[in-house]
Amino acid sequence: MRILTPDGEEREMRAVWFDDGIVKMIDQRKLPAKFEIFEAKSVEDVAYAIKDMVVRGAPAIGITAAYGMAQAALQNRGINEAYKILRDTRPTAHDLFYALNLMRDAIKNGGDPVSMAEKYANDIIGRCEKIGEHGEKLISDGYKILTHCNAGALAVGDWGTATAPIRKAHRNGKKIFVWVDETRPRLQGARLTAWEMVQEGIEHAIIADNAAGYFMRKGEIDMVIVGADRIAMNGDVANKIGTYEKAVVAHENGIPFYVAAPISTFDFSLKSGDDIPIEERTEEEVLFCRECRIAPKESRARNPAFDVTPAKYITGIITEMGIFRPDEIEILRR
Ligand code: MRU
Repeated sequence: MRILTPDGEEREMRAVWFDDGIVKMIDQRKLPAKFEIFEAKSVEDVAYAIKDMVVRGAPAIGITAAYGMAQAALQNRGINEAYKILRDTRPTAHDLFYALNLMRDAIKNGGDPVSMAEKYANDIIGRCEKIGEHGEKLISDGYKILTHCNAGALAVGDWGTATAPIRKAHRNGKKIFVWVDETRPRLQGARLTAWEMVQEGIEHAIIADNAAGYFMRKGEIDMVIVGADRIAMNGDVANKIGTYEKAVVAHENGIPFYVAAPISTFDFSLKSGDDIPIEERTEEEVLFCRECRIAPKESRARNPAFDVTPAKYITGIITEMGIFRPDEIEILRR
C-alpha cells in the first residue's frame, strides 16, 4: 500500500514484513496519531504483537505467524514450541491456524523457512487483489458502501479483503463513498479504515456503530462489504462484533450484504458458525477509552470480539476464485 508518512515521505509498504531476521510491522495500536514500526525479535515478541493487536485482521495475523515460524526456525527454536506459542494468541481468526499448519509442515519437510513465509505472504496478498478484481464488478458508479471494522490493507498486508473491491473501484475511476463504522471498543474503523481511506483519497465518513440502520432506512447505503475471521461450511461468518446486527438491518432494508475473504479464512472442518470459537477480550477495552475510564468504577463489562452472521443474511462471499452464495462453499473445497 502507498503510505504518506507523518514526515511527508511517500512509501510503498506492507503492514508486516521480514527484515534481517526481525518481524517488522506497522504498530496498529498507535494509528492514526503515531506512525511507528514494531520490531519482533523472538517468537514471544511475535505472539505478544498478535495478542496485543499491534497487528490484527485475520490474513495479517496469518502472515505474521508465518514470519514468526520462519524466525523461530532461523533461531533454532523448537518448531512445535513456536507453533504452540503462536497458536495460543487469538482463537477466532482461521488464518492463524492455516498459516501455522502450512509453515510447520513446510519446515518439517525441509523447506527454506524464510522463502516459505515470503511465499505465503505474497500468495495471500495476491489472492486479496483478486478479491478486489471480482468484487469491483459489484460496485456501480456513485455507490455508497458501508464497511465494518478494518478489513483493509492493514488487516492483510496490502489491498485488504472488504476494501480490495473499494480500492479497485476507486482506482478505476468510479465515484464511490464509504461509510466507516467506528467499531467499538478498539475503533478499528475510526482509526484504521478511515486512515486507509485518507491515504487512498477515497471519500468517506465515520459513523457511530449504532448509526448504520438510520442511513440504511434513508436509502443512503447501496451495499455492505465486510471481512471475515472464519467461515464455516454452511456459510455462517464470524467477523468483528456488530457485523451480525448490520447484516440483519441490511436484510430488513433490502440492501446487499457481501463478505470478502480468501481461502485461508474458510474452515472446512466446521459444519456451522455455532462451532466457531469466539474470543472474549478484557473488560478494560470497554470500560476505558484510551487511558480514560468512561464507566463507573463499580461497573463490570463483557467484551466478545466477534459475532457470527448466519448465512441467510449474506448475499454473497467474494473470494479470489469468484463470488459465491453461502450455500456454494463446497465448491471452494476442491
Ligand atoms: O479484532 P480484529 O481487529 O483482528 O478483527 C478484525 C476483523 O474482524 C476483520 O474484519 C477480519 O479479520 C477480516 S480482515 C481482512
